Amino acid sequence: MKGRNYKVPSKDYGVQYRSILPGILKEIERVFLEEDPILGKPVERFEEEFARWCGADLAVGVGSGTDAIYLALRGLGIGPGDEVVTSGHTFFATLTAVHMTGAVPVLVDPDPKTMNLSSRGVLEALTPRTRAVLAVHIYGLLSPVEEIREICREKGLLLVEDAAQAHGARGPGGRRAGAWGEAGCFSFHPSKNLGAFGDGGMIVTSDPALRRVLLELRNLGKKNKYEVRHVAPNTKLDTLQAAILSVKLPGVDAWNARRREIASYYRKELEGVGDLVLPFDPGGEAHVYHLFVVRTSRRDELRARLKKEGINAGVHYPVPPHLQEMGAGIVLPRGGLPVTEELARTVLSLPVSHELRDDQVEYVCARVKAFFRGG
Ligand SMILES: Cc1ncc(COP(=O)(O)O)c(C=O)c1O
Repeated sequence: MKGRNYKVPSKDYGVQYRSILPGILKEIERVFLEEDPILGKPVERFEEEFARWCGADLAVGVGSGTDAIYLALRGLGIGPGDEVVTSGHTFFATLTAVHMTGAVPVLVDPDPKTMNLSSRGVLEALTPRTRAVLAVHIYGLLSPVEEIREICREKGLLLVEDAAQAHGARGPGGRRAGAWGEAGCFSFHPSKNLGAFGDGGMIVTSDPALRRVLLELRNLGKKNKYEVRHVAPNTKLDTLQAAILSVKLPGVDAWNARRREIASYYRKELEGVGDLVLPFDPGGEAHVYHLFVVRTSRRDELRARLKKEGINAGVHYPVPPHLQEMGAGIVLPRGGLPVTEELARTVLSLPVSHELRDDQVEYVCARVKAFFRGG
């Protein structure tokens, strides 16, 4: 046992920022002295950099991941009377965003192996009102976007990605999350693999017409300084956050590689331990381990024990969206969601972030093994 104050947090922003702070402070000083606070040049620069990094042509910076999804769908013409098929096993904000357009989020159970949307699930949920599939890449694993894109092509549907947890995840041919459909939506919430120091979001697309609409939709619907075309929110990516994100972007590939290294250590140590089910990983760079999510029937007991031992293991998510107070009125679960409900009872996120040290990861493995040995 390590000493009393030994801790394994799920996130440590102090540690994360210590090594990159000089570059960020220098850039912040420059921004204060030279740039506009609203939609300054750093926003456009970061949009270009991030689009290129994702393998898309264009991007539009917005105020959050939720707004990215909402505006992408709206910009593509989704609205009242439409259905958007998505996974029941997601962060509730995915569904808030769909609902804000006036469309109905139709929820399907995920594939129990991957915890992601499956093409079979998508096919079963289609109705004449379906206009789009919103593919959530849960925990950082790319969903089967190539198959889903094929379904969308065949059926004349739009494909939008909720890549809030999947910055940099690669699919067949090396194409990254966000660049598979009409639009890819990202969150820069501080906890994400690429996080701002506050809220932020981005829509990437290769469609110039969509980008033009999105530039208006994020800015109160204005078509120019004095004329307004749409009723729309004020949700722009901040100049300062864009500047910070530009400094951080070149580090993301190495940080994702460190997350994968931690994941393979967990896998080596925890395979076959107790009734643990380890996360599916098809290999390569398909998974960026925003979260390392195991499953066990003793989830709450294990979590409480780890907490006592200084380890912060989270639950993403204990209440599925369709059982939230908020969810009841807005979502349409297709035929019950037993897999989603089972996951809510069994998932546990072991700490994974690029700033974790080896000894912290080893300690987590040792304590998890001890728990299942009854020690
Ligand atoms: C899967 C998913 N979708 C949407 C969001 C919403 O992003 P934000 O918190 O930036 O609004 C998040 C994260 O917070 C998320 O994890």
